[in-house]
Formats: sequence, structure tokens, C-alpha cells
Amino acid sequence: MTTPPTTPAPKPTRRELLGLSTAAAGAWATFSLQSAMGADGQEPVRTAVIGTGGRGSDLIRSLTTIEGCDLVAIADNYPPHLEKAAKFAGPQAKLYSDYRRLLEEVKPAAVVVAVPLYLHYRVAGDAIAAGVDVFCEKTMCYTVDEAQKLADQVAAAKRVFQVGLQRRANPIYQQAAAMVQAGVLGQITAVKAQWHRNNNWRRPVPVAKGAADWSRLERKLNWRLYRDYSGGLMTELGSHQLDVVNWMFGDIPRKVTATGGVDYWRDGREVCDNVFCIYEYELPPLAGPRPDPNAAAASTNGTPESSLKPYTVRVTYSSLCNNAYEGAAELIMGTKGTLYLTSGKGLFYREKLADDVGWSAKKTADGGGADASVVTSGKTLKLSNSPWAHRGEPLEIDNLLGDDTRDELVSFLDHVRRGDPATICDAREGLRDTATVLTANRAIDEGTSLAVPRV
Ligand SMILES: NC(=O)c1ccc[n+]([C@@H]2O[C@H](COP(=O)([O-])OP(=O)(O)OC[C@H]3O[C@@H](n4cnc5c(N)ncnc54)[C@H](O)[C@@H]3O)[C@@H](O)[C@H]2O)c1
Repeated sequence: MTTPPTTPAPKPTRRELLGLSTAAAGAWATFSLQSAMGADGQEPVRTAVIGTGGRGSDLIRSLTTIEGCDLVAIADNYPPHLEKAAKFAGPQAKLYSDYRRLLEEVKPAAVVVAVPLYLHYRVAGDAIAAGVDVFCEKTMCYTVDEAQKLADQVAAAKRVFQVGLQRRANPIYQQAAAMVQAGVLGQITAVKAQWHRNNNWRRPVPVAKGAADWSRLERKLNWRLYRDYSGGLMTELGSHQLDVVNWMFGDIPRKVTATGGVDYWRDGREVCDNVFCIYEYELPPLAGPRPDPNAAAASTNGTPESSLKPYTVRVTYSSLCNNAYEGAAELIMGTKGTLYLTSGKGLFYREKLADDVGWSAKKTADGGGADASVVTSGKTLKLSNSPWAHRGEPLEIDNLLGDDTRDELVSFLDHVRRGDPATICDAREGLRDTATVLTANRAIDEGTSLAVPRV
């Protein structure tokens, strides 16, 4: 019998090899549309900012560069912060010390909430109740219960809501998520993430210690060091990185074991200055055709039944305030490769089991040095002994804009304008992130492993 002639399959593009042909490519297309927002004759989005401290000021600076945004008002109950922010918000922005008056009088279409964590629920909830779409800084809420109620309130009101987890708007992380979900890394087996810093995490207080107003101002300005207002390293830093894992895995962890303490900074703070967590996720075997039972029986990784069982994947996370080695990064490890991710750089490392297609590396023409290789499609990257091969290949990103804070706001405002609640990080995702990080804090307090609530 002769074999019928077959047409050779077209060579996959790099994007297809990365699994980016649908979801991520779509997301990128949306982003370029978003950049043109306001240029099509539609009314700009009347936007207000509540909380004009460190982060609120950054967000205001970004908002003033977005064409489709009309920054109509800002609110803060600490006059020095309000006055400082007023300088770069522009004269059109009305100033308020009471955010509820802002909501009543200005009636913005959207608010950006950048107050301390313990106030997110109250302020975001008041805005939703006033019929306003909300961008709320991370972590979404101070308790899981609050986050659940806020997510329910958002859903009932059918409002647009986005949590300020800006890695979701970062093209490096978007590409990485598409690679993980397309199986480029093979079966994911482990994640190692950390955010290490070496500073006291304090803001200066403008009166001397011992002065009548010191205690109030210390708590007002250094709220993140006190448990009444903050979840410490897990809510301030870990929330970003555990959200990356939840997003890429499409699930939250089942369980967390954690420890930490106030061990170095003996300055009256109440939140840990070092935390160490092990999360356990259950991941299904790689998506794709169901394994052939005969083939599976012959495989080295178990019986047909066991090949369908979920894999337990452990994620280690640490955060420090007394040593900055390794900085902030996530390392996602699979049977075919590893991704090293930071906000400004993504690297891919091949394992020996990596598919034999799709990866080649060449040095960039601009002579960026040993690490300056780029990934292109079409050829096999030989597992070579060259000095740079083991350092990983930078992810080639088509639209690296370089400012994920601005990008997340552009995306939010675009969703507001279109009345589309499917934001890049909606209240449901914010709830899942909140449960993930707050359960670690409880595990530290109780000195035990805890199940993460299935929110
Ligand atoms: N996404 C990020 O990368 C990122 C970075 C830093 C901070 N944050 C988040 O932003 C939020 C704010 O953090 P920050 O560092 O700007 O804190 P901050 O202390 O510098 O600013 C908070 C501001 O809120 C104001 N405020 C407090 N109560 C208020 C009220 N009732 N009405 C109006 N204003 C009120 C304070 O006076 C202060 O100016 C936190 O949730 C934090 O986690 C996010």
C-alpha cells in the first residue's frame, strides 16, 4: 500500500511555538487599541484618585500621561500628601480631604484607590456603592471575608473593577503565562520566588520621637509596619508574586506552610521582617490529547492511571528586609525548561527534554555582551557548552513598553470606557490573591500548615 502524499505542515511562527497565537496575541492587539484611547473622538474617562501618598502619586503621574483620561479630582486626608500631589495632578483636579465628598460632588466615572490596605474595602466599597468603576491597589483587602464581600458587591453592581497587580499588564509576564499554559516548559514541577531587600522599610516622620503627635504620625505614615493596617511583606510584596503563580497555574494553592518573624529590625514594628513559605498547588497533567494508556504504561513516569493524576507542585517564597541578594524574581521550573522572570527581564532556560524545534539563539547586533542573545524560531538551539548558553535566553518581546504601571491603568480605563468587567485582574482574582497571601500570615502566626480557602 502506498502512503498518500501529504502537504508538509507550514513552519510554525515563533509566536505559535510559544503558544501565543490566540490568547496572548489577542491581549497584545487589545493593548495597541488601548494606546489609541481618546484619539477616536470619544469622551475621556473622568477619573479621580483617592490616597495620594507614594503609590497614589506614581499613579497620578501615569494618569496624566494617558490621552483618554481626565483627572478630575484627588483626595487625601493628610494635607502634605494632598498638596504635593496637587502639583503634578494639574490645576483641573479638584482637591478633597474627604473622599466621600469627592464621590458625591464630582461623580467621577472611575476612581483609583491607593490608601493603606486596611481601608481598601471601605473606600472601594463606597465607590462601587456610588456607581463608580474602581481600580484598587493590591492587596485587594485586609481580610479574606472583606475580599469576598467586595467581590460579591462588584458582581452584583456589575461594575468594572481591577486590582493593581501590574505584572498582569507586563508583556514579559504575559508571554511567560502563554508559554506556561501552552506547555513550552513541559510539566511544571516547582517554583521559587522571592523579594529580598535590605532596608528598614520606613518612611520619615516629620516630628521628633516623643513629640505629642509622633505616635499618630508614625502609624499614619508607617502603617505597613503595624498589624492593624497591614499584612506586612506578604500583602505588600508577596501578593504580586503569588498572583503571578495563581495566574499562570489558573488556580490557587491548596495548602501553605510558613514561618517568619520580627527578628532583625528592633524598632517597634509588628509585621515580620522575614518570611518563608511553601505553597502546594495541584496541577493537572499537561493539557493536550489524553495519554495513550499503552504508551503511558511504557513510560517511566507511572501507570496509565497515575499519568492522569494531578501533580503536586511546591512553590517556595521568601521575603526579607535585611539582605537584597536575588532581589525580586520568580523562577518557574518545568520538565522542558525554566523561566526566570522580573519586571524588566525574562529569561528562558532549556532542559535536555526540551522540544527539538523552535529555539535558536544569536547574539544581538548591538553587541550587548555575553547575555545578549535573542530567541528566534526555526532552528534548534543546541545544548552547547558555550559560556552563555547556561545563562538563559532573553525572551523576545514584541511590544515591551517598559512601564507596566501605566499599562495597567491604560487597560483599566479602556475597560471602563467599554463597560467591560473582564479586566486583566478582576475582583475574583483579587480575592484569590488575598486568600493566598493572608493564609500564609495565619500559618506564620499559628506555627502550622493551613489549607488555603477555596475562594
Ligand atoms: N502596585 C504597586 O507596585 C504598589 C507599590 C506601592 C504601594 N502599593 C499599594 O498602594 C497602597 C498605598 O501605599 P503607599 O505606599 O502609597 O502608602 P502611603 O502611606 O504612601 O499613601 C497612602 C495615602 O492614603 C492616605 N489616606 C489614608 N486614609 C485616607 C482616607 N480615609 N482618605 C483619603 N486618603 C487617605 C494617606 O494619607 C496617604 O497619603 C497600598 O495598598 C500599597 O500596598 C502598590
